[in-house]
Amino acid sequence: MAQVKQEETLKKIVSHAKEYGFVFPSSEIYDGLGAVYDYGQNGVELKNNIKRYWWSAMTLLHDNIVGIDSAIFMHPTIWKASGHVDAFNDPLIDNRDSKKRYRADVLIEDEIAKFDDKIEKEVAKAAKRFGDSFDAALFRTTNPRVLEHVAKRDELHNRYKAAMEANDLAELKQIILDYGIVCPISGTKNWTDVRQFNLMFKTEMGSTADGSMNVYLRPETAQGIFVNFLNVQKTGRMRIPFGIAQIGKAFRNEIVARQFIFRMREFEQMEMQFFVRPGEELKWFAQWKEARLKWHKALGMGDEKYRFHDHDKLAHYANAATDIEFRMPFGFKEVEGIHSRTNFDLSQHEKYSGKKIQYFDPELNQSYTPYVIETSIGVDRMFLSILCSSYEEQALDNGETRVVLHLPKQLAPVKACVMPLVRKDGLPDKAREIVNMLKFDYACQYDEKDSIGKRYRRQDAVGTPFCITVDHQTLEDNTVTIRHRDSMEQERVAIADLPALIDKEVSFKELLKKLV
Ligand code: GAP
Repeated sequence: MAQVKQEETLKKIVSHAKEYGFVFPSSEIYDGLGAVYDYGQNGVELKNNIKRYWWSAMTLLHDNIVGIDSAIFMHPTIWKASGHVDAFNDPLIDNRDSKKRYRADVLIEDEIAKFDDKIEKEVAKAAKRFGDSFDAALFRTTNPRVLEHVAKRDELHNRYKAAMEANDLAELKQIILDYGIVCPISGTKNWTDVRQFNLMFKTEMGSTADGSMNVYLRPETAQGIFVNFLNVQKTGRMRIPFGIAQIGKAFRNEIVARQFIFRMREFEQMEMQFFVRPGEELKWFAQWKEARLKWHKALGMGDEKYRFHDHDKLAHYANAATDIEFRMPFGFKEVEGIHSRTNFDLSQHEKYSGKKIQYFDPELNQSYTPYVIETSIGVDRMFLSILCSSYEEQALDNGETRVVLHLPKQLAPVKACVMPLVRKDGLPDKAREIVNMLKFDYACQYDEKDSIGKRYRRQDAVGTPFCITVDHQTLEDNTVTIRHRDSMEQERVAIADLPALIDKEVSFKELLKKLV
């Protein structure tokens, strides 16, 4: 039942995103292309605002972080050095009856999540029964039914973890069979063996058959930073610790693409590699973990919607790793990864390129290969988390329902919509005057069509924080009505006061100040 509700919520968000110009399926008139999406007129604004928030937080607030924009195509040996050619694989399994392909690890993780759900249900039931006197922590450690679920969960989890660490594909299949995991489409257990599948897209560069070489579409932006480490360090005279930030497209041939823009084949990342002294990486890892969570929470979408998830299986390059997870309609899901990547990447590029990639530390009077803390967040996942958290179908006192996006105001695609009450008596001209005053600082719209109520609804649906109505009184005293999106409250204010009023709520400055 809960599953059905979650799917319905996501479906509503997907169709709202399309109807209001946020996200369209790519190549839609040709029936779409799997897991590839286009951003519409409102989507691109929201996306740009997310990127601006991240970029400013990194490069404006830290005088030791600079940005770059490296190419998507890179020398193919880079991907050999980084380990992606050999190890950027997912274990896939096919169901012979439905002919559908799945990630074996995801099937098992979903099974583990079922035990977690059962545990949470027991706790919620008991909390309801015992009311204020309920001690959740005590209940979790003593209730026999909860303990039984925990034991079963841990048994499966440990088996899965061991299989993943040993890269034991036969054991992954055996777990799927032992736990009776069925294909959601066919409902059968008629599975093939588990195989590894490389996620990188390959293409050819060069015009002649002889002269062409295989190149990859980058699966992460991080490598563009590593191979430019010396360029930036030297030309920017950067001293460790320092960071390099980058926003750009990444491409992965995902086996199972689902949940809308959560798992895409073409997506965008915001990555920052922070170079530190060897031995200091775990201190910096802890610091960046907190800094990144603070960045998320500053948006005010609710602190309870975030949690850390420390990795069981570390990537080949990491000595510590965590995810920041966000509560989506389909459960807590990774939005950002924070990795302590050791000196793996720089050492590998030194080895494969034959070029010395070291840093001379004037304070220590020695050279070393820096260690790296990486923060990596998907723009599209961040976009989805904001959309999911903001969407509300709100029942109003008059019996009507309004659909409103409670977007963080700084990120809203349109900050204010100016509306003449009627399309005559000089009100449109006055409204346009106000747009012309505000448009240099804020994304504004002008709307004169339909009733004021309908116009409010249209702006609620795209998350516009302010609607400004020009009426006959405006012509007399230069005041307007400003209506607030979330409370729907209206107040009469002087036109001259509008910039300060809007600025207080939508300015990036106020948002960024929360981070320092
Ligand atoms: N450089 C490290 C790296 O790429 P990752 O955990 O594979 O690490 C980082 O990816 C972030 O990129 C994820 O937390 C997620 O937000 C985003 N991401 C990864 N794969 C994605 C996909 N197929 N679709 C959308 N976003 C994705």
